[in-house]
Amino acid sequence: MQVRLRAMRYEAEGANSYELEALPGASLPPFTAGAHIDVTLAPGLTRSYSLANNPAERSRYRLGVLLETESRGGSRHVHERWRVGDILEVTPPINDFPLHARAAHSVLIAGGIGITPILAMAEELAASGRSWTMHYVCRTRARAAFLERVEAFPEAAVYFDAEPGGGALDLAGLIGRAPAGSHLYCCGPAGLLAAFETAMQARPDCAGHIERFASAETPAAQGGFRLILRRSGRTIDVLPGQTMLDALLDAGVDAAFACTNGICGTCETKVLAGVPDHRDDFLTDAEKAANAKVMVCCSGARTPTLELDL
Ligand code: FES
Repeated sequence: MQVRLRAMRYEAEGANSYELEALPGASLPPFTAGAHIDVTLAPGLTRSYSLANNPAERSRYRLGVLLETESRGGSRHVHERWRVGDILEVTPPINDFPLHARAAHSVLIAGGIGITPILAMAEELAASGRSWTMHYVCRTRARAAFLERVEAFPEAAVYFDAEPGGGALDLAGLIGRAPAGSHLYCCGPAGLLAAFETAMQARPDCAGHIERFASAETPAAQGGFRLILRRSGRTIDVLPGQTMLDALLDAGVDAAFACTNGICGTCETKVLAGVPDHRDDFLTDAEKAANAKVMVCCSGARTPTLELDL
């Protein structure tokens, strides 16, 4: 669907917020806390951005976008090219990180720009009157997006781990103290998510939920195997330095993709023969073991050939 970029605002060093509205005569589909939309930035360049505003608001979607220093094109495009008034192509909201709103207690943990879905959850929990706390870690106060809104919640604690006296988040202690039956949510950089997952192993009586921005795995780009496309009868060599998706696109195959990072599932492809080297965060362990499908954007092959349903 199409939306208009109504406003943009500086939020913190390197981070802007962007407010999207419906075009005249249309309305925005409602969303739930934790949802994201996929935004088509340019042909072949799609990125997912979480919605940071209160889900009760029906007139806007608010995104927070950090300019990544090693941007693969997404955040750089947003920061450098978007102008107020632009018409953008987006999907309706999708929620892979839903809030279990009826939990007896909720703990929200955000690192850096991971605050975006967590903020929508905080808005919803604050309105519900339920028991919850929020913990927001950033390098410095100047780099903390949406800080003013976060600090307005009495349930929120903030930590600036690169500032003298900025406080440190004791993640294991925090998780260890959560009341039994709590739901805990974490969004942020890979190191924070890994520490969260480790600490949650000691709390089988609670439920942990994470939202990744980037896969924990490095994409397989060593090449050296062959793709056999059963439906089209084509054979394509994946060369060193290429992912399967690179090889497919270079050969003119119209392969679907979005995140290019093993997160979203858009590039899922059926495997008809051969064994993939799974590098995504989308398939479950059981699905990976079954080897019946593969995320071509980031996975490789453990066999000299991989036969795909393409
Ligand atoms: S494009 Fe998102 S998982 Fe491959």
